[in-house]
Amino acid sequence: MAIISTKYLLAQARKQGWAVPAFNIHNAETIQAVLEACRERQSPAILAGTPGTFRHIGCQEMLALAATYATRYQLPVILHLDHHETFEDIAGKVDVGVRSAMIDGSHLPFEQNIQLAARVVAYCHQRDCSVEAELGRLGGIEDDQDVDEAQAFLTDPAQALSFVERTGIDSLAVAIGTAHGMYAQRPNIDFARLQEIGARVAIPLVLHGGSGVPDNDVRQAIGLGIAKVNVGTELKIAFADAVKRYFAAHPDASDPRYYMREGMDAMKRVIHEKITLCGAEGRLNAGGER
Ligand code: 13P
Repeated sequence: MAIISTKYLLAQARKQGWAVPAFNIHNAETIQAVLEACRERQSPAILAGTPGTFRHIGCQEMLALAATYATRYQLPVILHLDHHETFEDIAGKVDVGVRSAMIDGSHLPFEQNIQLAARVVAYCHQRDCSVEAELGRLGGIEDDQDVDEAQAFLTDPAQALSFVERTGIDSLAVAIGTAHGMYAQRPNIDFARLQEIGARVAIPLVLHGGSGVPDNDVRQAIGLGIAKVNVGTELKIAFADAVKRYFAAHPDASDPRYYMREGMDAMKRVIHEKITLCGAEGRLNAGGER
């Protein structure tokens, strides 16, 4: 078992009407929690790391951990570059073995976003690495990115097809009303827009900002072409709250193996729910070996 790309897996998911959940990871314990849950449910796994997470652990270290667990748990594992903004950063990580990347040029004007994504695609496809790019811009806070309401804008369906054709990307992240982080009120998802994008664009679509989106909304989005659902904040909160509860009950505790385990188990409960919600259970080998 190995580190694979998302290309075939997401294409299968879109064709069959389910989605692959992508979980943001931050350290060894969160990688372990995701992969344990995926093994238990025989679900494919996308470990999503922001540039900040890759700086925190180290790219080769993350690849080594992911590859070791892939073999130990007999899982094809995807280590995905979430919200990477430069060609150089992605190329450097692909060179050492990453096989799934998101180039986020959503802050750039349309033509520049296309040029950047096309350059990343040309490099990555020669190295069997799949590429996701974003058109439109999600609001909210995600690691180093803080996008306020004035900067956020929704994906233009008329531009989506030309963006996909001119870049050659494998999956398209859409801005349809979700945001990074938890919501103060129920997100207002523009399903009509998603339907229009899905009708024009055949490649898998990606829903960012999955934390706190009502289950029915996620199901409806999957029915309209979403094949990858990104979840980060909900996992962090579950982990942190469990560790806080542990220390409240055991104020003198100091062994990380015990308090981290509490966090991991709480995170795993959320991961199990998301695997069920996405319909990913039992789909472990849907994408084949690549
Ligand atoms: P949330 O943290 O809102 O779940 O978003 C995660 C995400 O979209 C990662 O790219």
